[in-house]
Amino acid sequence: MSQDTIKFAYWVPNVSGGLVVSKIEQRTDWGIDYNRKLAQIAEEAGFDYALSQVRFTAGYGAEYQHESVAFSHALLAATSRLKVIAAVLPGPWTPSVLAKQIATIDHLTGGRVAINVVSGWFKGEFTAIGEPWLEHDERYRRSEEFITALKGIWTTDNFTFRGDFYRFHDYTLKPKPLQQHPEIFQGGSSRAARDMAARVSDWYFTNGNTVEGVKAQIDDLRAKAAANHHKVKVGVNAFVIARDTEEEARAVLAQIIEQADPEAVHAFGDAAKQAGKSSPEGEGNWAKSSFEDLVQYNDGFKTNLIGTPQQIAERIVALKAVGVDLVLAGFLHFQEEVEYFGRKVLPLVRELEQRKAATRTAAVA
Ligand SMILES: Cc1cc2nc3c(=O)[nH]c(=O)nc-3n(C[C@H](O)[C@H](O)[C@H](O)COP(=O)(O)O)c2cc1C
Repeated sequence: MSQDTIKFAYWVPNVSGGLVVSKIEQRTDWGIDYNRKLAQIAEEAGFDYALSQVRFTAGYGAEYQHESVAFSHALLAATSRLKVIAAVLPGPWTPSVLAKQIATIDHLTGGRVAINVVSGWFKGEFTAIGEPWLEHDERYRRSEEFITALKGIWTTDNFTFRGDFYRFHDYTLKPKPLQQHPEIFQGGSSRAARDMAARVSDWYFTNGNTVEGVKAQIDDLRAKAAANHHKVKVGVNAFVIARDTEEEARAVLAQIIEQADPEAVHAFGDAAKQAGKSSPEGEGNWAKSSFEDLVQYNDGFKTNLIGTPQQIAERIVALKAVGVDLVLAGFLHFQEEVEYFGRKVLPLVRELEQRKAATRTAAVA
């Protein structure tokens, strides 16, 4: 298979309530036994990555959460090829502790750990754990220093850094991680998020969106990154509903929305909208999300990976054509649907990719 294949990640359900704020039955469990088996199914199905979530408290159906770094390690220990991305929040984590923790996990797992630096959107969570709540762009300024410090610690000796948030004096981490440095993902869609990705992150994760919406973000991001001589890859969120017929898939979406818990959706929406609105330009994640969009935490319906395996595979290839490197997938019944996705959708994606590559080669010849 060529290097140029689109990658797949799934959301680790380490938080209760699944990935939709709905009373619809979800055969998904946030516990470790379910998640170990899911990771093994995903690895077998052809997924490249699993993404855990970081959450200290929540009041909208997600009230039980396992800690992301420890949980990610457990999933790495249960698999042999899958990479697991541990979500972390600057503030509760310091770069010194995280650099050490991740370097050790990297050694324990043969170089398969990555991190997702999330900058925080939920003020109530920070207040609950006694962490100062910084204003939107300040959160990103801190995250950028956090990433710069991590890379410095992981890749150099005698690291010295004088930032506004973090300081290091002649620090040498031993052992360094096995990987040159574990991949650094980040989430967020605001201007500050994109500017940070264009300077320091390896990967930019964004909420679900239409192909056109994703393209606009990627064009902006890549132009900025090029000006900084930096390369950044892009992952887009999608809630996947793959069924043998389009009618079945659409009916599942309709049921999810019909059985949405309005109180919980509004509670989540109110908190999430603070994040989007509080970015100076009002363009952050969720700034324009409707009630239906908010039923899926990260606007995953908008990406429209809903339909038959063929329809979904075609849409994935369309996303790839505008520059998407990875699809981050959420599901209603994770174990069954990850297996189905690997069996029915993924082979079609690879077929379409090969066909496109062959057409390109023929056109050049
Ligand atoms: C794919 C993805 C995963 C995220 N995971 C988490 C998470 O686990 N915990 C969290 O608090 N925020 C998470 N976020 C939220 C972002 O880090 C960020 O705070 C939010 O998107 C608002 O940022 P913005 O104002 O730049 O759009 C995630 C965002 C994305 C796109």
